[in-house]
Amino acid sequence: ELEPTILTREEGNVGIITLNRPKALNALNAILIDELLAALRSYDRNSDIGAVVVTGNNKAFCAGADIKEQRELDFVGAYNTDYLKDLNDAIVAIHKPIIGAINGYALGGGCELAMMCDILYAGRGAVFGQPEIKLGTIPGAGGTQRLIRAIGKSKAMDMILTGRTMKSAEAEASGLVAKIFDDEETVTRAIETAQKIASFSAPVVAMAKEAVNEAEELGLKNGLHFESRLYHSSFGLADHVEGFEAFLQKREPRWTHK
Ligand code: HXC
Repeated sequence: ELEPTILTREEGNVGIITLNRPKALNALNAILIDELLAALRSYDRNSDIGAVVVTGNNKAFCAGADIKEQRELDFVGAYNTDYLKDLNDAIVAIHKPIIGAINGYALGGGCELAMMCDILYAGRGAVFGQPEIKLGTIPGAGGTQRLIRAIGKSKAMDMILTGRTMKSAEAEASGLVAKIFDDEETVTRAIETAQKIASFSAPVVAMAKEAVNEAEELGLKNGLHFESRLYHSSFGLADHVEGFEAFLQKREPRWTHK
């Protein structure tokens, strides 16, 4: 393919990554995953960027793993070239918040990619699902683990065992997505929220994201302990001093991200 599989642009302190394989409904292939990861890592290292938006197009956020590419794989092939696992492992290591702006289909690996994001905004026409069972496989990039955490066991089983899809209204009602909008507003509103997040102290934002994510890894006692340590360490930041001073002086804080 001559076209880049992703497009990137910046608006203020926000990096925007658009999946760009429209003819394949943005199906995830090895090249796209490589380019997506490179872009995420580059934004994560860029101190001008405070948050990232990942989106697709109006027809599809992403219709899943590339079925044509996956068809060639046997067990050893799947084991050795599990780039969706690489994506999953790498996204977990990104410090900056990632907002998924979802219009159209988010199926299979596409739904899993969406669930790797920290906040999901969806258009009213968005459709979520884990249809792998219809292909003779199961979700392989977090679907069985993240969907249950997002929407609970009964709904997750209902979707994964039948392959049925969920429209955005149900996705919002069940907690999979944070907010829904008219389709043409989804990306704009995601960028606005990303800009809001990017306007705060970068180290504090990273601490908040890390603490929330640990809630899914640790029991309550250890999670509360982890939160306390990060909370206490925020008192060592210049931005903490500035935030409290600014409040008491009734002015806007000027973050130095230190
Ligand atoms: C490769 C795909 C694709 C996919 C669609 N296309 N999804 N190519 N991988 N996942 C291609 C089609 O082959 C077609 O190409 C073009 O995109 C347009 O799709 P259509 O089917 O013609 O569009 P439409 O009729 O509107 O139907 C849309 C759709 C359907 C309902 C989303 O495309 C669909 O069911 N796609 C598969 C969804 C799916 O099963 N995803 C899970 C994949 S498995 P041509 O060349 O014909 O124009 C997975 C495993 C994850 O994700 C586990 C990770 C380890």
